[in-house]
Amino acid sequence: MPEEKEITNSGFYYIKPAANHILTIGKGIIKDSYTAILELVKNSFDADADEVRIKLIFNDKESKISIQDNGHGMTFETVTKKWMVPSTQDKLRQKKSKYKKRPLQGRKGIGRYASSILGEDLMMLTTEKETLETTELLLDWKDFYSDDKYLEDVDILIESYKSTNKPPGTFLTISGSNTWTDIELDRLIGSLKRLLSPFDDIDNDFRIYLYISKESSDKYSSYSEQIKPLPILEHYHYRIYGQVDLLEIKDGDEILTAKLTIENKSLSNISPIQIDKKFKLEKGQKFCGLLNIDIRAFDLDEELPGIASDESKKLVKEIPGIAVIKGGFRVRPYGDLKVDWLSLNERRFNNPTLRLSNNQVAGYVTILQEEESNLEEKASREGFKENEHYEGLVSSILTCLSVLEPIRYKFRKQHNKGGRKPKTINEQINEASSFDKLNTRIASALSTSNVSTTITDQVKKIIQEETKEKE
Ligand SMILES: Nc1ncnc2c1ncn2[C@@H]1O[C@H](COP(=O)(O)OP(=O)(O)O)[C@@H](O)[C@H]1O
Ligand SMILES: [Mg+2]
Repeated sequence: MPEEKEITNSGFYYIKPAANHILTIGKGIIKDSYTAILELVKNSFDADADEVRIKLIFNDKESKISIQDNGHGMTFETVTKKWMVPSTQDKLRQKKSKYKKRPLQGRKGIGRYASSILGEDLMMLTTEKETLETTELLLDWKDFYSDDKYLEDVDILIESYKSTNKPPGTFLTISGSNTWTDIELDRLIGSLKRLLSPFDDIDNDFRIYLYISKESSDKYSSYSEQIKPLPILEHYHYRIYGQVDLLEIKDGDEILTAKLTIENKSLSNISPIQIDKKFKLEKGQKFCGLLNIDIRAFDLDEELPGIASDESKKLVKEIPGIAVIKGGFRVRPYGDLKVDWLSLNERRFNNPTLRLSNNQVAGYVTILQEEESNLEEKASREGFKENEHYEGLVSSILTCLSVLEPIRYKFRKQHNKGGRKPKTINEQINEASSFDKLNTRIASALSTSNVSTTITDQVKKIIQEETKEKE
């Protein structure tokens, strides 16, 4: 029999986010202050700016971060209808920037809330390029610290006026920020540098300037610099570069082809070789669009050719692993220091002489935009969703490395590199007559078993006697 129900309440309702929902977006999704600044810089890029100026000022009187670009700015309508509306996916539809047709970096419509983790108040002043109308908005993030108010209950005053002397662009000022430590400032510079592709594929006309004025710091009391990408390492032992593309689909399997060039600079007279490698993607892996690969590899036990010893050690220490570049920007965290996303260290652990570890490679893999690669960035900006295309990416890069590795291995073997130095006769004799190793191994085996200490002592004694006799 169907259940009888007596309706007591009925009506249509709407999900109304609590005021602090907006902070959940900013604080919950944007990982840290560096990511927050990178998001705001990307907005300037998307707005066709050719420069963005980031200023951090920390002194007794004020504590603020400002970000100013000379992009196309926003109209009153864009501010009220787009900027004020979370999760607008305008950029997902547009894909290319308005004037310069740059590949848009924004997708999810949340980057602007990054400013909520940088400080307490946000002042935005934006002047639109065509109308030269300026729109101003002031936000106090503290007004959102409430879950008994709704988002729609927080008033935000927005005004616009015709300006005669303001150049187009957007100017954000975030005040009431915490004073950043010198280490945090170092990291900010590092992440800005690593944001940019080292290749010229990013519009040469997007420049990032950083100014820091921190009273309590010697290093950053008055700092001003144009941020340049990390240089591509000129000195290396090996380099493998080329393209990976789809060759054909056979019986449902994707067959890829890697057209690669391998350089070996360990000696001065080795000519580069060309290798075409065909390989099949396994189950659970899919082609992720054309890849451009450029990886340098290092022998950690050898000096770098053409470079002083100290400098070579320093350089090799800073080797950043393998980065992924998309539309002129690096996708974090791939290529962040110590991020071994390809599990190179584990691979090497299983085969130490053949395989390269994460700190032996420095490279870049350039991918196509999401529409072609199907590599989709997570909302948190912490890399790609780990779908089949991502597995295809990993597999393709590892395949290319596996082309280089045996060549390097053979070369090192032929030239007696890396192997243990031959032992002297004395060392060899000592080793033959020594029971040290045997002793420790037996002792540790016994200690984990339930054998009594008297038996352990007896075994030890027998070994000692034998050692004496041998000597
Ligand atoms: N610096 C800027 N210049 C011009 N427009 C901007 C700027 N920052 C944000 N916007 C506008 O606000 C919208 C939201 O930005 P954001 O939250 O970063 O999301 P997304 O970049 O994913 O669209 C953008 O789509 C853009 O229209
Ligand atoms: Mg954005």
